Amino acid sequence: MYSVRHILRVLTTFSAAIVVFVGCSKLEPVEPPHSTDSTELYKAMLSDPQSCATCHPVHAQEWQSSMHAYAMTDPIFFRLHDIGRERNPELGNYCFQCHSPGGVLTGEIVDGVVPDVLSAPARAGVSCEVCHKGSSSTRGEGVHALHLDSTMRGPIEDPIFTSAHASVFSRSISKSQSCAACHDLKSVSGFLAERTNTEWDESPYQAMGLECQDCHMPSHIGFAAVGGPEREVHSHRFVGLDVPLTDFPEAEKTKELVAELMRNAISLQVEANFQAPNSHSVNVQITNDKTGHSVPSGSTYDREMWIRLVVTTQTGDTVFATGLLDPNMDLLTERSVFVKENQLPIDTNLTLFRGEAFSGGEKTLFFWEAEDADLHLIEAFATHSSDFRVDYLVEPGTTVNVHAEVLIRPFPPYLLRHIGMPELVDNIPVFTMADTVFTTEVQ
Ligand code: HEC
Ligand code: HEC
Ligand code: HEC
Ligand code: HEC
Ligand code: HEC
Repeated sequence: MYSVRHILRVLTTFSAAIVVFVGCSKLEPVEPPHSTDSTELYKAMLSDPQSCATCHPVHAQEWQSSMHAYAMTDPIFFRLHDIGRERNPELGNYCFQCHSPGGVLTGEIVDGVVPDVLSAPARAGVSCEVCHKGSSSTRGEGVHALHLDSTMRGPIEDPIFTSAHASVFSRSISKSQSCAACHDLKSVSGFLAERTNTEWDESPYQAMGLECQDCHMPSHIGFAAVGGPEREVHSHRFVGLDVPLTDFPEAEKTKELVAELMRNAISLQVEANFQAPNSHSVNVQITNDKTGHSVPSGSTYDREMWIRLVVTTQTGDTVFATGLLDPNMDLLTERSVFVKENQLPIDTNLTLFRGEAFSGGEKTLFFWEAEDADLHLIEAFATHSSDFRVDYLVEPGTTVNVHAEVLIRPFPPYLLRHIGMPELVDNIPVFTMADTVFTTEVQ
């Protein structure tokens, strides 16, 4: 005869086993691994994204060349992290809560110290399971727990059986909210320094029901898994603005995809007024009519988007120029070495969209220190208008050539030089978002 207590014990053990290994829709996420137990469980549970490739070859290949896979490879990430630890010793696991939730949960990364050898799920950065194991997360503070089971949550309502894992339909994975843990970012002081999800919330896109996934995970008909039926599948490339500046799978292809996205982010309208004598001007209007948040967005402290406008005469004289680069490839701001040393004039007409972070009232190049920020961005559906006065005296009857471009790049060269990575400067791409060339006759 079994005693009641024995039955209870069996039941408890059995349900614990279900919770841990089989998966059940009412699971509570497990707290972060303060005890060795949960780190051991995470070690046993998390897998190498390569192990998904046998059955999900396309998803694995796309993810492998995405910035999500680059999150723990990027040497700029590790350099900035080292600088962060020097300047802010209390940084702890701050960076890894978003860049490698797996490394934190398996207990490999403790207090921001990264061992020489990391397990595959830790090295995988924003890995498959970070998104598909139903995370417990706080907006702007990364992912702190995953369901301790072998169930994959995804958008398929009627997944076919596989012995590899249980599959559960999740409506929420296809919503913007599922990106908010990392695509809003609170600095160390709790200031909302990066705001892509918040910008989307505040834009008409939320009411329109156009989610992050609709633009960043375009769908087509294909196979969700080898041997499964044909259905709607979603790209796992996660194209944005950033590209790997070091060797990485399909980096050239990523650059092409970014170039294409940038061509479909904004519209440009340029009007030149060379009619009235002595009051020549060019008006440049940029409308953010295709991006689900501000442009630029996210890591805006590391971004540069600017107007390059060059007006020349038929005979080749430059009548007006803004947005040119110095020999170091920097814009002519107070951060250019050539401007600092008075070798080149500051570009007083420069229209530059970026974020400037402040800590203790002073400018800082390091976003995690931000306590306040000046964000010069173009919000969704907003238009930015700049008037450029052309003071150069042009003879009436002259034909002038107006060349306007909106350019963007992921990093300013001065930043990479400042953090001791000048060798990467030549790899920074500059993308054209829009351009126009026309001629007009001076009246
Ligand atoms: C042995 C083959 C196999 C392996 C290995 C495998 N899967 Fe799957 N997976 C499948 C099949 C089959 C489906 C169902 C596909 C369908 O119905 O079209 C599926 C479905 C999914 C879904 C969709 C679930 C839903 O309901 O929307 C996700 C997400 C997923 N797998 C992630 C992963 C991840 C991540 C890994 C690696 C850690 C992995 N899978 C490993 C075979 C596999
Ligand atoms: C309507 C389409 C659309 C929607 C919706 C959308 N994006 Fe974007 N996203 C774009 C385009 C176009 C760009 C390129 C322009 C740019 O860099 O801002 C971009 C750029 C980005 C970048 C790089 C930003 C930068 O400037 O460095 C990130 C990160 C990003 N999106 C994440 C998200 C997230 C997260 C959401 C949901 C909260 C989202 N996007 C919603 C179209 C969209
Ligand atoms: C950054 C989060 C994220 C990562 C990382 C990620 N996925 Fe997904 N995955 C999604 C989202 C979101 C969807 C659903 C998109 C939608 O419904 O709009 C999805 C859908 C899927 C599906 C269902 C079929 C489809 O394409 O809709 C499979 C299978 C899948 N992912 C497998 C994987 C595998 C395998 C990996 C790693 C190699 C991976 N995912 C990495 C977010 C992610
Ligand atoms: C666990 C944190 C995390 C989650 C969840 C997450 N991301 Fe990301 N995402 C990152 C990190 C970190 C990077 C940058 C990695 C790098 O460049 O080193 C990134 C990069 C990107 C980029 C490329 C940005 C650029 O400038 O090129 C896009 C686009 C993007 N994510 C979209 C999404 C979308 C859409 C979702 C939701 C379905 C999502 N992400 C969910 C952490 C996350
Ligand atoms: C709250 C989540 C989160 C935290 C914390 C976080 N990151 Fe990121 N990181 C992201 C996301 C999301 C992106 C991509 C954003 C984009 O492209 O706009 C990113 C991109 C990056 C990039 C690549 C591109 C760039 O423009 O800078 C670097 C480098 C980086 N992070 C370094 C760090 C360092 C160093 C720390 C810690 C001091 C850190 N991150 C903390 C989410 C996070």
